[in-house]
Amino acid sequence: MEQISDYLCRYKNYNFTIGHITAEYIDSLQSFEIRDSDIFVITYPKSGTVWSQQIIISICELGGGLNEYPNNMEQMPWLEYREGRADYSLRPSPRLFASHLTPALMPPGLKDKKAKIIYVMRNPKDNVVSYYHFSRGLADLETPKSFEHFFEEYLKGNVGGSSWFDHIREWHSVKDQYNILFLTYEDMVLDLRAAVTKICTFLGKNLSEAAIDQVVEKCTFSNMKKDPKANYKFIPETRLQGDFMRKGKIGDWKNHLTAAQSERVDQLLQEKLSDMSLKFIWE
Ligand code: A3P
Repeated sequence: MEQISDYLCRYKNYNFTIGHITAEYIDSLQSFEIRDSDIFVITYPKSGTVWSQQIIISICELGGGLNEYPNNMEQMPWLEYREGRADYSLRPSPRLFASHLTPALMPPGLKDKKAKIIYVMRNPKDNVVSYYHFSRGLADLETPKSFEHFFEEYLKGNVGGSSWFDHIREWHSVKDQYNILFLTYEDMVLDLRAAVTKICTFLGKNLSEAAIDQVVEKCTFSNMKKDPKANYKFIPETRLQGDFMRKGKIGDWKNHLTAAQSERVDQLLQEKLSDMSLKFIWE
């Protein structure tokens, strides 16, 4: 494991925040036993992870059979950050996990295509803005010197989670090897009910129209912000000042990126991902 700054370390081509993982633990994921009933949400950071957690948890709760945990982070913990929890192999099924890892670091058992992955992607201009604000509040991350400086580091992949462009490319290019549903943050904002319905179908949960309405209600930005299990206010203020639930909008990039910065993102998208026929919603 190579320390690359006061806040980041690099292991197997991926930047982790210092102090939360060990090389041994990340290596151990290569023999982590996947169960057919496991459900993962995988994202690049700041793409709608906690929102997806709330949707998946709400669907599974209504579908029945979930064990109770004090909050969404315990109910659907990060695979890579075990943070003193008991061994995940001791968890009762169905197990729910979040992860920001790339395919190479994930347990190979996922390729059996039985466990389910929901991959959520967010447009990079809003993603970098969200990440910038989050970095200002989370003690584990380096406080950005300025938006301009953070923007440059983000484009170079010098942030936790490495490069947004690589994350998208790596997951998209192997998607046929997994049982995976791709969604975008923007689709979720524009039509939450449609996104919830898609996730239900993918998870094989046959919820009534009324139950779907209930899930949608629990997962709106304003309701999640008030929900102590979902709003991440349980993270102590000494570690996180500010909010996971910050703005929840498409297009905030227009308040932060200059025309030149926006064009740089467009150019990089063209260079790095144009063969992937991805569609972005910018406003
Ligand atoms: P903003 O910073 O743009 O507001 P992650 O969970 O991956 O860290 O992503 C956090 C982003 O998802 C934040 O974006 C947050 O506001 C947004 N988000 C969380 N819940 C949401 C919801 N119910 N509706 C819309 N956006 C939501």
